[in-house]
Amino acid sequence: MDHDEILCWLLENDPLRLEMLWRAADLTRRLEVGDAVHLRGLIEVSNVCQRSCAYCGIAACAPKVERYRMTREDILECADRALEYGFGTVVMQAGEDPGITGPWMAEIIATLKQRTGLAITLSLGERSEDDLKAWRNAGADRYLLRFETTDDELYRRIHPPVGSSSSSSASDRIRQLERMRDLGYEIGTGVMVGIPGQTWETLTQDILAFRHYDMDMIGIGPYLPSPGTPLDGTLGETLRGEAGARQVPNDSLTTLKAVALTRLVCPRTNIPSTTALATADPSQGRANGLSRGANVIMPNLTQPRYRELYQIYPGKAGLHETADITVGRIREQIRLLGRTTGQGPGSSPRGKELS
Ligand code: 5AD
Repeated sequence: MDHDEILCWLLENDPLRLEMLWRAADLTRRLEVGDAVHLRGLIEVSNVCQRSCAYCGIAACAPKVERYRMTREDILECADRALEYGFGTVVMQAGEDPGITGPWMAEIIATLKQRTGLAITLSLGERSEDDLKAWRNAGADRYLLRFETTDDELYRRIHPPVGSSSSSSASDRIRQLERMRDLGYEIGTGVMVGIPGQTWETLTQDILAFRHYDMDMIGIGPYLPSPGTPLDGTLGETLRGEAGARQVPNDSLTTLKAVALTRLVCPRTNIPSTTALATADPSQGRANGLSRGANVIMPNLTQPRYRELYQIYPGKAGLHETADITVGRIREQIRLLGRTTGQGPGSSPRGKELS
């Protein structure tokens, strides 16, 4: 698929034509990665963040956020739950928290690996080369860092540098993704659909970039405005104004088109049906993602007392649930779709091919 075909499909609104897109994506998913849905237990380790990404509800600049950082024991307890549920992977996610030091996290990774044998995915923002190396050596397998947009100017406007404007603190996620690939991580990335300033052409380029960088995992969710953030205020209005009629809407349908096209463009990649999609459409979002290209779900195992404080956007699906409820519902959705639950780590099918 080339640029023009992707763009054309993104703009397609004829239900019969779209049915062809959904079928092609679902068939490709089945042939290339099979019927198994891999479950990854999500642990929201800390909502402390030093960055001020313009869309994020736990950004450093976000107002009135009560901050927490889990203890080592809290984290290990969540990981034990993942093992009990039979998951093959845990994902440790946090804001870009300087209190998560290299050595502290390395020790947790090593202990967790030794105790559970689970695959370990990190999603801890932009970190130093030393931290990334130490964590890889301690046993981390994968790293998620969404590049959010291929439009350099838009990227800069929604990702201000940390602290002063010194260049060393400028945000550069693509560079870190390349470094992580060199360190032997499986790498995951993704974008939000419908951020102010995102045009149809930008989203097309984003999907082409997934292929260009040959990503192992690609997460795509709708942008959900977070009250009090710059992107929900004047910056958002300005960017939307600049995009004009080319602005991409942040709805479920457009997100599903992006998911389906990503499956066609990167047939063997792992694609989650995201929590943001489930939030935008609580009754059908998760299932629609799975039947239009996705093959991964990341059930939230964070203890309820922390979950409520990890609101990168409001009303996140499963906010007030226990892990038992979340996992039970997800298993039922998988069953109803006639799919199976993945066994083992669910490593990158792309990676297996290369090794
Ligand atoms: N709406 C939707 N997704 C968001 N993320 C952050 N803020 C929002 C929001 N307001 C996504 C970003 C980030 C991931 C962890 O969550 O893509 O990389």
